[in-house]
Amino acid sequence: MRISVLGSAAGGGFPQWNCNCRNCAGVRSGSVRCKPRTQSSIFVRPDDASDGVLFNASPDILEQVRARPELQPARALRDTAIAGVVLMDGQVDHATGLFMLRERGSPLPLWCTDPVAEDLSQGNPILRVLGHYCGVERHRIGLDGTPFRVAGVAGLSFRALPLSSKPAPYSPHREHPVEGDNIGMLISDEKTGATVFYAPGLGAITPPVFDAMARADALLVDGTFWTDDEMPRLGLSKKTARDIGHLPQSGPGGMMEWFAKLPAHTRRCLIHINNTNPILDEDSDERAALTAARIEVCEDGMLIQL
Ligand code: MLT
Ligand code: MN
Ligand code: ZN
Repeated sequence: MRISVLGSAAGGGFPQWNCNCRNCAGVRSGSVRCKPRTQSSIFVRPDDASDGVLFNASPDILEQVRARPELQPARALRDTAIAGVVLMDGQVDHATGLFMLRERGSPLPLWCTDPVAEDLSQGNPILRVLGHYCGVERHRIGLDGTPFRVAGVAGLSFRALPLSSKPAPYSPHREHPVEGDNIGMLISDEKTGATVFYAPGLGAITPPVFDAMARADALLVDGTFWTDDEMPRLGLSKKTARDIGHLPQSGPGGMMEWFAKLPAHTRRCLIHINNTNPILDEDSDERAALTAARIEVCEDGMLIQL
């Protein structure tokens, strides 16, 4: 299978429009060695010639499609390689790009859990608004571990895992998370047996999540924050990484500790990186610590072939 990283930044992108943190100012001025990034999304297809699945519809989707020719195969006057969209949560950075797909000639095939469909019909009624344009053909993602397929994408199967994290601020149950607000996805190539675990928003590693990580050949997981207090320390928010459903990389119980318990051959990639995260600076000590631990930092345009 082929995984294209369309967007590797967390909500806000990098640089974020109103931010002058060291990274954002540094990428603008060129004083910090780092690459700009668009908001969180990947495109997965079984091979170079096939249509694929868009995981998350970022508000940067139009720029991402322009940047990746494989998304526009130009077989007809109106065309796309996006056979369907699968949502990992109902947050702004993962769902508002659906508006940009409204010119489709037929209802957009959309896979999401019930709580996400509810949030996108109530708190942020994107699905209702899209009903005035192409409409959506909604498919329910169940949480019982039953694999599903996406029509038009032969040879790939998908299995959702409920994750501990948080729904969006506009969710009617923001402070009372339910199973299915956030999911991770095991993506399997039925021909080669290769499996990827994708979880851009991951608040805690429970035994089933670790089990999924240990079975995958490659991981694309939450790289939002380096430290739990990254935002409070910069005076940008009172909330810690864990408060908003993101496991930091460093510190006790952080992502690096979990990665260290995995089989040596597992490919470890961080995605959904917040603009404040020091790992974006390619010359930072934090980035060097990741490199020493064979942990990769996703960037836009990165291609993973398994
Ligand atoms: C998150 O992942 O916590 C959210 O996407 C943040 C946001 O988009 O504002
Ligand atoms: Mn996000
Ligand atoms: Zn910033």
